[in-house]
Amino acid sequence: MRKLKEWVGNLMVILVGLSWGDEGKGVAIVRLIKLLGLDFVVRWQGGPNAGHTVYYRIKEAAKKIVLKQLPSAAIVPGVKCFLAAGMVIDPLGLVKEMSELQEVGIATDPDRIRIDGRAAVIWQLSKRLEEKSESAAGSDCVGSIKRGMGPAYASAANRFDLITIYDLLDEQRLAARIKQVMVVVRRFYRVRVLKSEMAVWQQELLEAGRVLAPYVGDVAAEIQELIDQGKIGAAEGAQGTLLDIRWGTVPKVTSSHTIASSAPAGTGLPHVFFGRVIGVIKAYVTRVGNGPFPTKDTGSFGRHLQTEGAEKGSVTGRDRDCGAFDAVAARYAVWKNGVGAVFLTKLDVLSGLEEIPIGVAYWINGAWTTEFPNDPLILEQLSRVKYETMPGWSENLSECKSFEDLPINAQRYVQRLEELIGVPIVWIGVGGEDDQFITRENLPNGD
Ligand code: IMP
Repeated sequence: MRKLKEWVGNLMVILVGLSWGDEGKGVAIVRLIKLLGLDFVVRWQGGPNAGHTVYYRIKEAAKKIVLKQLPSAAIVPGVKCFLAAGMVIDPLGLVKEMSELQEVGIATDPDRIRIDGRAAVIWQLSKRLEEKSESAAGSDCVGSIKRGMGPAYASAANRFDLITIYDLLDEQRLAARIKQVMVVVRRFYRVRVLKSEMAVWQQELLEAGRVLAPYVGDVAAEIQELIDQGKIGAAEGAQGTLLDIRWGTVPKVTSSHTIASSAPAGTGLPHVFFGRVIGVIKAYVTRVGNGPFPTKDTGSFGRHLQTEGAEKGSVTGRDRDCGAFDAVAARYAVWKNGVGAVFLTKLDVLSGLEEIPIGVAYWINGAWTTEFPNDPLILEQLSRVKYETMPGWSENLSECKSFEDLPINAQRYVQRLEELIGVPIVWIGVGGEDDQFITRENLPNGD
């Protein structure tokens, strides 16, 4: 524990997903908050396309909560939560999410939850535009979660149709903004929006703005104050490295940067405030939506993962495709993020398999390679993956408290992944409960 605190120092930790999202970042951050004694957590990108499943204990029962826009830290009492300017925020959804937390007794007062006024707003128009672009693309669509993320981020890049959280706080300001947006949008996007419909959307935004007003501020400045007081924080990523808008499997990716180096830009904090990066990855791979997935398994192995891992989208309920751990992609993600230590989740899902494959090389240009291709099209066209097979285990892992408690084949599996990705796997998830994970004493020394 002391070693972990020394390793982290007093800089902010960044937690990122190393795959296509759904790595278990929510549960990982909740566990790390306790280990690291974090005072605050900030989300810097994405929006309600994230679905971080966490468990909140009410008396003896654990209630499952899916957090979409609030950091997962929201379920840990006393931890301050920030939604930074790099996010796109659905204000109506956020009001709802906060009231759902209040219903189970979780405090969501404006002292605790802070939203940056500069964040771009997702509204009904963003959703309508996304429906339109996804259906126009037909079978070539991204397979987006259809929460309006892409159009909201695009509005920030376009500038002419951008609405920010600040715009919601003043009736006149919002009305003037929407009027201007609609003129350009009608000419540019050619979407028909009835006046009556627009009036409803505007009213909804205004009402959400009234509720959110006390929560809105300058997130970077507020975090600076906490840091000045000696508080320790983390930045919590959403989606995963392979969904990064530039460094993922483009164009079948999300609309924001998901990699660790985007945390300073998304929060508005200087990069020197950030230190260690912790990567979260499952003991196998899943993906929702379209796009390449080299180790996808449509046979009995994939079905085992789907069923035992309950692999259904937490926001959409879509079945996730499943497959073997992809060491090529994982090593790329470790490097892209500068990951220093890994939180491996859902190792327990692999119990009951005789053999476990691991993807170790791709067949590209007539040769095996362990390098992740820079051109995403090569990945789309990839026809062969080389697998290594590890012996499985039948034991249930849920009671394992230390690495040595794991069956020897599970230990070997973890050690092999570690060799392949080149960084230590320090934490291992063996079940969904808060305490069902193992912490090893293998943090690297110094740099
Ligand atoms: P969007 O982020 O809704 O635009 O969707 C773009 C792609 O990212 C689609 O393939 C989605 O399925 C995927 N995606 C977005 N957010 C998540 C997430 O939190 N977990 C897993 N996949 C996601």
